[in-house]
Amino acid sequence: MSTVKEQLIENLVAEDAVSQRKITIIGSGSVGMACAICILLKDLADELALVDVAEDKLKGETMDLQHGSLFFSTSKIVSGKDYKVSENSKLVIVTAGARQKEGESRLDLVQRNVTIMKSIIPSIVRYSPDCKMLIVSNPGLIWNKGRNLSQYPLYLGAEWHLRYCEG
Ligand SMILES: NC(=O)c1ccc[n+]([C@@H]2O[C@H](COP(=O)([O-])OP(=O)(O)OC[C@H]3O[C@@H](n4cnc5c(N)ncnc54)[C@H](O)[C@@H]3O)[C@@H](O)[C@H]2O)c1
Repeated sequence: MSTVKEQLIENLVAEDAVSQRKITIIGSGSVGMACAICILLKDLADELALVDVAEDKLKGETMDLQHGSLFFSTSKIVSGKDYKVSENSKLVIVTAGARQKEGESRLDLVQRNVTIMKSIIPSIVRYSPDCKMLIVSNPGLIWNKGRNLSQYPLYLGAEWHLRYCEG
């Protein structure tokens, strides 16, 4: 029978184990947090990571999820501005994006979002070269841009899925 000390050390070692079902969400806005809550409620990940450029918002949202984590099976919820937190993800969901400004055309919005995408995709690939990506950000056109940036054979855009499901 193991001593209390051994049991404590065992738990520490277990916490360091590499996640097998890690999911990262880029963007902690309305869509990103809806995804996060669904993932936690459905127990889809053993580690959840959030990345956003808006650090204060990200910190607040992460603390909310961590405070509720007693009710979830996902033991590890991490976040940061640095993509290092996304390392070793199996799935990366991109929900980051600029919202359409008043009077802004969809084409101008595309350009702004392509710029954002250019900053995001290479960082995802750097830390999780084998992940699958799901692009939720609009307009749907930019998921194509993301595929070009990542050179991924398997790269899913949410809008494409919706259209595919509609037949
Ligand atoms: N495909 C769909 O079915 C669907 C449905 C709803 C919304 N959307 C799209 O999803 C996107 C997000 O919507 P939302 O309502 O959550 O917007 P939001 O403004 O609430 O959140 C966007 C988040 O992205 C972050 N962000 C911006 N630039 C970033 C960057 N370079 N790196 C990391 N994070 C960055 C912002 O700080 C913000 O927290 C929009 O493009 C929206 O149009 C798609």
